[in-house]
Amino acid sequence: MRMVDLIEKKRDGRELTTEEIQFIIKGFTDGSIPDYQMSAFAMAVFFQGMTERERADLTMAMVESGDQIDLSAIEGIKVDKHSTGGVGDTTTLVLAPLVAAVDVPVAKMSGRGLGHTGGTIDKLESVAGFHVEIDKQEFIDLVNKNKVAVIGQTGNLTPADKKLYALRDVTATVNSIPLIASSIMSKKIAAGADAIVLDVKTGAGAFMKDLDDAKELAQAMVSIGNNVGRKTMAVISDMSQPLGYAIGNALEVKEAIDTLKGNGPKDLEELCLVLGSHMVYLAQKASSLEEARHMLEEVIQNGKALEKLKVFLSAQGGDGSVVDDPSKLPQAKYVVDLEAKEDGYVAEIVADSIGTAAMLLGAGRATKESEIDLAVGLVLKKKIGDQVKKGEPLVTIYSNQENTEEVKAKIYESVKISKEKVDAPPLVYDKISR
Ligand code: URA
Ligand code: CA
Repeated sequence: MRMVDLIEKKRDGRELTTEEIQFIIKGFTDGSIPDYQMSAFAMAVFFQGMTERERADLTMAMVESGDQIDLSAIEGIKVDKHSTGGVGDTTTLVLAPLVAAVDVPVAKMSGRGLGHTGGTIDKLESVAGFHVEIDKQEFIDLVNKNKVAVIGQTGNLTPADKKLYALRDVTATVNSIPLIASSIMSKKIAAGADAIVLDVKTGAGAFMKDLDDAKELAQAMVSIGNNVGRKTMAVISDMSQPLGYAIGNALEVKEAIDTLKGNGPKDLEELCLVLGSHMVYLAQKASSLEEARHMLEEVIQNGKALEKLKVFLSAQGGDGSVVDDPSKLPQAKYVVDLEAKEDGYVAEIVADSIGTAAMLLGAGRATKESEIDLAVGLVLKKKIGDQVKKGEPLVTIYSNQENTEEVKAKIYESVKISKEKVDAPPLVYDKISR
């Protein structure tokens, strides 16, 4: 087989065989296929697309390019959740203990954040003592015992995807549905998921700004998952504004605690119930989505979900008492309200630019090497559709620096106020299953 012939085949819009796709990914991973040929191939895929079968083959070839996590020692169906990324997306912190409280095993491998705000691990590390540097056996034992554990990235997972993503980034081929879908799905499958719930975000703060693009990506990922034997469902949710109120690490932990107590922001609670119901259903712990939702509402009401968070944090060295007393979380030195400059209705809270404001405070990393400040961030006082009066607080700024002029300017630039009444955007646009 010669790479040049396979590039030509794809360039001309013909379908590649399983063996041909395996040849390409194997050769690219071991270096026998150079970057310039892989770049040409990525561009051919960008213009010609891939069939459903080719997408599944590409995904599995990338899974097989490196280590795969074996979770078979954990009892039950392991369901993973993946979000395509948003601002102040506190769902993982809520969902992990929530679904574990109804006996769905949550074996989560997670990462640190880059840009906007922290990743799930950064957020969890706001709890004094909590750590994810546990070995694989301890991880498995903890999931069997408590139904939930989080481990940092281990092993050499999907090296082909890492290399290809870096190449796509500099060859204008990131934005290709088959390449994005196989990239995301390969990582979930290599991390050991039996079933996958996808939260595909759409709106100004999302990777897929357009609803039709988000639907197409969701459909592509759901097909891949089901074609390779992992039951997969997707929810398309709004990221035109941040989810919940809090953006920032300790602030989001506090928000997750509130939500597990039943006192959280309604949008965050609702999205967690929707995603959680799908997880419980795919784990075969309920026979319908309605039953699954009911089970989750019950463990919020009776305190079992909150208790599960405490057990989970303590089991990994964390101070579980933060659940009863969130003032033990890192606190910012300066807390100031940013006031509305005019009367009206909140029309826009541009999520990515609000995320940048939080990053300027130190809640996120500008570069991989940046230190993160766990205490700082923003809490929205108003969301899209809310009425606001001049002088009322729009956003509370939690900062460890006295001068926050740049942050304030960024927030004013991100929050648009209109004279006319504005409707709140829908939270969930669509659900996609096979
Ligand atoms: N996120 C990924 O993991 N892969 C892509 O290709 C795009 C976004
Ligand atoms: Ca939030």
